[in-house]
Amino acid sequence: MKQDNYSPQVKVMYTTSNMPRERVLTGIRANGTPHLGNYLGAMLPMVEIQHRKSKTHDIFFFVPDLHSFTTPIDHDTLYEHTLRNLKFFIAAGMDFWADGAYLYRQSSISAHSELTWILDCFTYFGEMRRMTQFKDKSALEASEVKIVKKVLDGYNLTQRLKKLTTQRPMADIRNLFMFDRKEAAQKIVNELQAVKADHISVGLFNYPVLMAADILLYNAKYVPVGEDQRQHLEITRDLALRLNNKFASIFPAGMFETIPVEWSKQLEFAQRDNGIRIRSFRTPEKKMSKSVSDPAGTVNLTDDPKGAVKKVMAATTDSFGVINFDWQKQPGITNLLQILSLLSGRSIHEVVTEWQGKSRYGDLKRAVAVEVEKLLTNFQQKVDEVNEAKLLEKLESDEATVGLIANTTLLRVQQAVGLRPRN
Ligand code: TYM
Repeated sequence: MKQDNYSPQVKVMYTTSNMPRERVLTGIRANGTPHLGNYLGAMLPMVEIQHRKSKTHDIFFFVPDLHSFTTPIDHDTLYEHTLRNLKFFIAAGMDFWADGAYLYRQSSISAHSELTWILDCFTYFGEMRRMTQFKDKSALEASEVKIVKKVLDGYNLTQRLKKLTTQRPMADIRNLFMFDRKEAAQKIVNELQAVKADHISVGLFNYPVLMAADILLYNAKYVPVGEDQRQHLEITRDLALRLNNKFASIFPAGMFETIPVEWSKQLEFAQRDNGIRIRSFRTPEKKMSKSVSDPAGTVNLTDDPKGAVKKVMAATTDSFGVINFDWQKQPGITNLLQILSLLSGRSIHEVVTEWQGKSRYGDLKRAVAVEVEKLLTNFQQKVDEVNEAKLLEKLESDEATVGLIANTTLLRVQQAVGLRPRN
């Protein structure tokens, strides 16, 4: 077997034609419960890629458990959820026992944390501050802003009016009051925003750097993720190139590419025209998310199938009264069309052709609900069938193997930055 400069310890590294096996790597955090967005945006594409590419590519799959508490979680359930998420992937169709498939937990391999610190020192504060995920998660949620404004609307209205009427003419007062109230609401929102931002963890701020380490440690070329993670892939590429420029090629590109390829090539690899972003059923302007408290808009993979049907049937739509695929004007309807296409395995073109111009939103919701119910029923049965002991055995054995790859990269970086002697 030919030797691989970057990871000599891993056995199956070459295809039969003696080409290096490229690496595909992805992960799903262990916080909260995975939902339909995770399933359609990450699990299903990864299963599909494994089926299509397992002869030529190695699949690295890990649980980014260190990423799981960038926002507060119930730590009593973290370990259990780590294993549960892996079971979910198995239920979704991943074969972790196939040749070239590696499975591990981020926290079992200390090189992730060590490389993160080094990368942190080459990452700019401004870059992290501009990450949309950080901005979104550290901002007040729309529902919180709404509550402030609502509370203020009812605030002492009659008493203030009484007081004011003794001093000024009525029309004047109405204007003044409206103005006052708006300004006061904005002040309170700003104040709360500042308090919230002050209490954001540094972990949330720099988790894209940990994600960059997750990817660069294993020289992964393809990283199948949903649209929301695109910016993180871009910062990974920026950091790798920045270090390469400063210290010669630590993460060389070339035949055995070690920097993840750009987004358009990631999409090409996944055979998609666009990234996937499943929206909330309640507020379709926003993505379906684990961290947002939006139970009515989120179908969790653990939801009772009948309850999930109700969520779909209650999905927010619009008042146009005609079905069109248009994310800007009709995000709710378009979300339903996208989900129907992904769940039924039909192209979006086919699904849109079938539904375009129809007016009965209820029929579309029902078609989606049938697919969601079918998915959850089958999925939950398969999760129960996973053998946990076998899963743990696989994890421990792969962690020993991939730990060697990670340490090889880490050593190369340590040598480059002067922490270890250069050969
Ligand atoms: P996480 O756990 O938030 O999400 C896991 C995967 O699910 C995708 N996803 C969605 N896709 C479509 N529509 C949605 N509404 C939706 N919500 C989530 C995410 O894009 C992701 O693919 N930072 C990552 C975890 C991570 C990682 C990595 C991934 C850490 N290190 C290295 C790949 C490679 C995250 O927060 O995922």
